[in-house]
Amino acid sequence: MKSLDIRIILPKDFPSITSDFAEIKGVLPSKCNTMLSVLNWRFYDNPLGQGIFAGAFSGAKLVATAGITVKSFAIKGTPVMGAEIGDTITHPDFRGMGAFSSLVRYLLKAAAEKGFHIIYGTPNQMSGQIYLNKLDFVPLFHWDTLARPINWNCLGVLAGTPGKIAGSVLGPVCNLLLPLKLGEYQYSVDENMHPDLKSFLTQACYNCECSIDRTPNYIRWRFNRPDRQYFQIYLRDKNGELRGWAVIGYVTEGDIRFSHVRIGDFWITPKKRGVLKALLAAIMIEGKRKGVDMICAVCRTKKTSNIFKSLGFFAKPSIMPLIAIAPIGYDLKQFEKWQYRDSDADMF
Ligand SMILES: CC(C)(COP(=O)(O)OP(=O)(O)OC[C@H]1O[C@@H](n2cnc3c(N)ncnc32)[C@H](O)[C@@H]1OP(=O)(O)O)[C@@H](O)C(=O)NCCC(=O)NCCS
Repeated sequence: MKSLDIRIILPKDFPSITSDFAEIKGVLPSKCNTMLSVLNWRFYDNPLGQGIFAGAFSGAKLVATAGITVKSFAIKGTPVMGAEIGDTITHPDFRGMGAFSSLVRYLLKAAAEKGFHIIYGTPNQMSGQIYLNKLDFVPLFHWDTLARPINWNCLGVLAGTPGKIAGSVLGPVCNLLLPLKLGEYQYSVDENMHPDLKSFLTQACYNCECSIDRTPNYIRWRFNRPDRQYFQIYLRDKNGELRGWAVIGYVTEGDIRFSHVRIGDFWITPKKRGVLKALLAAIMIEGKRKGVDMICAVCRTKKTSNIFKSLGFFAKPSIMPLIAIAPIGYDLKQFEKWQYRDSDADMF
């Protein structure tokens, strides 16, 4: 067996790796175009800077990939550079040969040279064990995944016929007990950013202990992911002041079991339970209007998760934690208070 060679994959190399990449993913090469355009978008279009996308090669054959994409944080107002690690996959015939670990070590060395303070990821159980047990990553925190049916019959997709029956009984009861109320607020839906969003976000999240920076350029890039579409909800009080903002994303390609949307990001100001409830009501009313079956979200803190639960969301704690490493020895404790609201695993 030849030893594996780790090399950077640039956009110009994509045509030559398409068939190997398709084999790794177990799909036809013709189905790879969107996947490759997502990789191009993630690693090479990011306005914060170029990421690193690397492959492990056995001779000329690509057998594994991994990459890091740049993320900028504000920790108590101070900018800190980080990167998210992902797109890690090894060809089934080449697993257990060190491809993944060599790629991660390669990326960490490059990240240290570039001065990144944190490299983090949201792994599944398979890769999570390797990050934690063999590659010196540490667990940072868990989160709750939340889901709220709009069309309660879609529970049947998840739990078969009993789910359908439970849905048809539970749904009307839940809708009766938990009416969606906007109260004194009104909302609008937009694909474009409103002029007051920047100052709203500055007020709402830049003073957080730790959050990912949401500059207009960055948000615009996030909305340009090739296989997703996004719309925004703007919640305003009776004076027209922006009080809540949420980004809702939906998958436009691939295997879609039932129609669901994901709350990719949501902020309110002032931080009052009533404002968040009105924002969630606006999201659900809009989901209903668009004929969506289910609304999904992610919350890092129990406090926020509980507000979702009080509106009929089911919560499931994540199995794996968010894992991280500090390539240049930065204190990772500062990231434990990260306001993590990324239901898309990479929305922000
Ligand atoms: C997770 C995955 C990327 C690991 O790739 P890999 O190239 O086989 O990993 P490595 O060979 O570098 O394994 C590193 C170590 O973990 C061990 N290991 C690998 N897979 C393992 C598993 N499923 N359970 C436990 N240990 C495992 C290896 O034996 C090796 O141990 P060693 O250093 O003592 O020899 C690969 O299994 C995969 O592609 N899975 C499907 C896609 C996926 O789930 N990606 C993660 C997305 S979050």
